[in-house]
Amino acid sequence: MRKQLPLAILLSFVMTNAISLLESTQQERQRCDEDTVFTTKTKCGACSVNYKIRCPEGYSKMTKGSGKRGCRYQYETHSLTLSFNGCQHTCMRTLKQPQCCSGYWGQDCLECPGGPLSPCSNRGHCFQGIWGNGTCTCQKAFAGTACEKCAEDNVFGPNCTSVCSCIHGTCNNGLTGDGQCMCMSGYKGLHCDQPIPECEALQCPENSRCSVSSVDKSQLECKCLPNYEGDGKQCKPINPCSKMVCDPHADCLYLGPNHHNCTCQYGYEGDGQVCVPINPCQKNFGNCPISSTVCKYEGPGKSHCECQEHFRNFVPGRGCSMKDICATNNPCHENAVCTMTAPGQTLCKCQKGYAGDGFVCYGNIIDQIREMNNEPGGYWQGNLISAIELFGG
Ligand SMILES: *[C@@H]1O[C@H](CO)[C@@H](O)[C@H](O)[C@H]1NC(C)=O
Ligand SMILES: *[C@@H]1O[C@H](CO)[C@@H](O)[C@H](O)[C@H]1NC(C)=O
Ligand SMILES: *[C@@H]1O[C@H](CO)[C@@H](O)[C@H](O)[C@H]1NC(C)=O
Repeated sequence: MRKQLPLAILLSFVMTNAISLLESTQQERQRCDEDTVFTTKTKCGACSVNYKIRCPEGYSKMTKGSGKRGCRYQYETHSLTLSFNGCQHTCMRTLKQPQCCSGYWGQDCLECPGGPLSPCSNRGHCFQGIWGNGTCTCQKAFAGTACEKCAEDNVFGPNCTSVCSCIHGTCNNGLTGDGQCMCMSGYKGLHCDQPIPECEALQCPENSRCSVSSVDKSQLECKCLPNYEGDGKQCKPINPCSKMVCDPHADCLYLGPNHHNCTCQYGYEGDGQVCVPINPCQKNFGNCPISSTVCKYEGPGKSHCECQEHFRNFVPGRGCSMKDICATNNPCHENAVCTMTAPGQTLCKCQKGYAGDGFVCYGNIIDQIREMNNEPGGYWQGNLISAIELFGG
């Protein structure tokens, strides 16, 4: 007897390389899917029949004709094992792996705080990529949702490394500050450490202070206190909220002279100076049951649930129900029983008395003959016993 060629193909997955960052369609500019190429070889076999061997489902054949020569295969007889030179095919398949472009994070590829061009204001690390959470870890000395400010109050300069040195005064601090001191009433000098005894006579009005004149260093004058603004005779509190100090998506609350609180609006989160959109799908899947639904991001703070493929009828809190293909789109033969085995998958089994694969069911010949043979008063009654024996019934 001829031995059947083994049909099973040994899969040896070799992940070769991840190539070409593909810039996708215009709406999905933040997606940079990666192509991953998988290659596999078919099992080594006789060259003469190897042209027939197919690659596994989804793979394309890269080698022509009988494939590549040079491998060895074995053939077993009852007493010995023989080894022959053989052929095998190389098969390849390309799979798209969803990925975010640099500077974007999460399943919906939202922007990192600070924007994709300068994530975390270039002063920290954004947990980016499709599995990232979009938060910034700031370098030492920096803080804030997008690392947009200094971690300490008494420092200034683009690196937040210069230390303020104002004794009786306030410092122009922060990333854009220059460290200059604004002296309290009656003090002068670079560090506001020199008292001015003559100030007593000047009697500066409310919210102002006595200081050396900016125009004539030999004169004294009244200037507004820190956190107040005006000409020195009339000083009113500075209201930061009138100067757009918060993120466009934040509300500003005036708390007192030069003090305020920025609070991100509904759908956004952050320190107020920087607010980033909330994607509910990234948090507990937007309360969508994961077994039957998917969460769709609509915009800041907004999402909805949709049924997964092969599911229908979304019920909030419960999910979707499996589509009954047997009821709507039965693929089985009319003499077969259809059952659902998994979402989108059916099992077709021929009814009792029928033979076949479920997609085609033949009536069972022996049963038919037996029925005819036993039919009381029938034309064939009792005459078909030898036919039944012939078919092995
Ligand atoms: C974001 O992810 C990083 C790294 O996995 C983790 O250290 C950090 O705690 C996460 N932050 C939040 C807010 O989930
Ligand atoms: C900030 O740091 C960078 C790099 O460390 C340095 O080149 C630059 O001179 C620093 N600037 C200031 C104002 O300290
Ligand atoms: C500022 O607002 C936050 C909430 O956004 C709150 O937790 C904090 O207490 C507020 N600060 C003041 C001084 O009101």
